[in-house]
Amino acid sequence: MSAIAAEPRQTKFVLDESRIPRAWYNIAADLPSPPPPPLHPGTGQPIGPGDLAPLFPMELIKQVVSTDREIEIPEPVRDAYRLYRPSPLHRAHRLEAALDTPAHIYYKYEGVSPSGSHKPNTALAQAYYNKAEGVTRLATETGAGQWGSALAFAGAVFGLEVKVFMVRASYDQKPYRRILMETYGADVVASPSLATEYGRKLLAESPDHTGSLGIAISEAIEDTVTHPGSKYSLGSVFDFVLLHQTVIGQESIEQMGMAGEEPDVIIGCAGGGSNFAGLTFPWLGRTFREGKRYRIIAAEPEAAPSMTRGVYAYDFGDTGKMAPLVKMHTLGSDFVPAPIHAGGLRYHGMAPLVSHLKELGEIEATSVHQVACFEAGVTFARAEGILPAPEPTHAIKVAIDEALAAKEAGEARVILFNLCGHGHFDLAAYERYLAGTLEDYEYPAEKVREALASLPAVR
Ligand SMILES: Cc1ncc(COP(=O)(O)O)c(C=O)c1O
Repeated sequence: MSAIAAEPRQTKFVLDESRIPRAWYNIAADLPSPPPPPLHPGTGQPIGPGDLAPLFPMELIKQVVSTDREIEIPEPVRDAYRLYRPSPLHRAHRLEAALDTPAHIYYKYEGVSPSGSHKPNTALAQAYYNKAEGVTRLATETGAGQWGSALAFAGAVFGLEVKVFMVRASYDQKPYRRILMETYGADVVASPSLATEYGRKLLAESPDHTGSLGIAISEAIEDTVTHPGSKYSLGSVFDFVLLHQTVIGQESIEQMGMAGEEPDVIIGCAGGGSNFAGLTFPWLGRTFREGKRYRIIAAEPEAAPSMTRGVYAYDFGDTGKMAPLVKMHTLGSDFVPAPIHAGGLRYHGMAPLVSHLKELGEIEATSVHQVACFEAGVTFARAEGILPAPEPTHAIKVAIDEALAAKEAGEARVILFNLCGHGHFDLAAYERYLAGTLEDYEYPAEKVREALASLPAVR
């Protein structure tokens, strides 16, 4: 049998369904040192499984403490992954030509999922484990609406009710995201809402509150503990969420192999850190096990630059101070980021695992303004045809800068980034960009100083 010749300008590297990973990659097995443990907000002591049991099913709690390198993906979850996985890896030939760069640019496209982003990779897993343990209803927050849509979809797949607290700024900017969630069967309210005591308190103080992810998380947690049969589900930050996203990076390793290339630079946008971790952790595993070195860059917004301008300290994951204390890069849990269109990046903290890797010097972080990101997103759309969500335009901006730096240096650097979602529900933001009315928000140093002043005292 003669071998099939490779396409001269192969653009998509596509894996067969049998190549959907059979296990998630647990970076805890390979870290040079473990991250500091989460602490109980009341006692200041490391939390145990019992402390998390009101919020999460036991199988997810076990994943947080596991140091096994591979955690098997249950067959019903892998079967649901078949709806969209493996996701394609693209070589951005046309973007390279538009930039006239010798760099080779690749992107992993997670926008092919039913709800349009990487978020179903963990939503399906969380819904499955909850259903298996008898939970009937999930409560959650959503920023951009991508996570809420993913969980609403996963609730429909596994037969669970879903209640979504959607950050007011996004609720107003993106009515179609709400309608998508409702179509999947979810109940969606704008946060702060009248549905919780915490929301009612905030609305009494400030009726026009634009909300934040930190506030919506507090409302979802309060809702969970006040509704029997409910558990809490979250779209980022926690170790098990990052774990579930590692299907992205594992597939990308195989696909870069098909392309016959190794990345020099790997880039992801970072709000809570999950798509960034999902792409980069399997590559970092190679660093820890085989000594391979990659430049790994997290791209965050100038309006909420937790890793580039925050402090590394124990803080609450939510504004209402109901969640465990975790050591992370934070701008202070009281900090409410400006209403940038990348709603998924409007978070005061960063995943503890990602923060730990930054402290170890294994990854870099950089922050970018939203207008420059939309400019990069439009350049990308005109070259590659895909309209990116506002969040991954941060990764695109950094990838383009790297490609232009490679041109300056005359080097054929290989760049890989995560295109973690499409922007089909973000057209109002693009409209504002195209009309020239989109604004940048300066880094609010004073507001951050105030928020950091009330960091919890932890010895
Ligand atoms: C498309 C998209 N990208 C990125 C993010 C940021 O989250 P994370 O940093 O966990 O990937 C979100 C969050 O809502 C999102 O919807």
